[in-house]
Amino acid sequence: MADPLTLRRLYGRAKGRRLREGQAGLVEQLLPALSVPAEGPLDSRRLFGDERPLHFEIGFGAGEHLAFRADLLPDHGFIGAEPFLNGVAAALGHLQDKHLANVRLHMGDALSVLERLPDASLRFVYLLHPDPWPKARHAKRRMVNPGPLDLIAAKLQPGAEFRLGTDDPVYCRWAMMVMGQRRDFDWLAESARDFLARPGGWPETRYEAKARREGREVWYFRYRRV
Ligand SMILES: C[S@@+](CC[C@H](N)C(=O)[O-])C[C@H]1O[C@@H](n2cnc3c(N)ncnc32)[C@H](O)[C@@H]1O
Repeated sequence: MADPLTLRRLYGRAKGRRLREGQAGLVEQLLPALSVPAEGPLDSRRLFGDERPLHFEIGFGAGEHLAFRADLLPDHGFIGAEPFLNGVAAALGHLQDKHLANVRLHMGDALSVLERLPDASLRFVYLLHPDPWPKARHAKRRMVNPGPLDLIAAKLQPGAEFRLGTDDPVYCRWAMMVMGQRRDFDWLAESARDFLARPGGWPETRYEAKARREGREVWYFRYRRV
C-alpha cells in the first residue's frame, strides 16, 4: 500500500498563466492572513480562534465550492488546500467578494495539512473532480487510494461525511471499487440512480461545468464515516 505521503507528487503544474494585477495583490496581501500556519499541530482553536465544526476541501481548484459552502455555513470553519497558484488566486477573489472570514487556505498538498489535524476532527471532507490519472499504470497516484483514504477516514468524526465527485468514467468505476471495499465508509445512496443527481448544498464547480458543456456525465458520491 502506498504511503499517503509518497503521493505528494500527485499534482502536476503549480503555476499557469500570469496573474492579473488584482489577483497578484490578493496573493501578496490576503493569502498570508488566511494561510494555514506552516508548522505544528492544527485544530479549530488555532485556525479560527474557537471551537467550531471543521470542513476540508482537497484540491479546491478555483474555490467556487469552498466559498459557496463557507458562505452557507458561516459558523463553521473551512480549510482548503490547492497547489495551483492561479486557483488559489481565484479562490481569494471569491473569499473577498463574499467577505468570508471562516476559510483558511494552504497552497500546496492537502495531505500534509490533513495529517496535522487531530483525528476525528472533521465534519466534512470534499474531493471534487480529482485529477483522473486515467492510465492504469498511474492509478496509484489517484487520491482515491488506500493511503489517502486511511488518512481521510482517520480525520473524519464518526458520522461525518466524505463527498466525492467525478466526471471521469474510469475514476467513477475505480472509486466505486475502492470505496466499496472499505468498512469504515457507508455509501449514502438510497437508489442505484442516486449518484447521478446533484445532492443539495453541492454547487457546480468549474470542472463540473466544463464536463457538462462537453457532454460528459457527472457522478456524485456521499459516504458516511462509520
Ligand atoms: C481536476 S482539478 C478539480 C478542481 C476543483 N475541485 C473543481 O472541481 O473544479 C483537480 C485539482 O486537484 C488539485 N490537486 C491535485 N493533487 C492535490 C493534492 N495532493 N493536494 C491538493 N490539491 C491537489 C489540482 O491542483 C487541481 O486543481
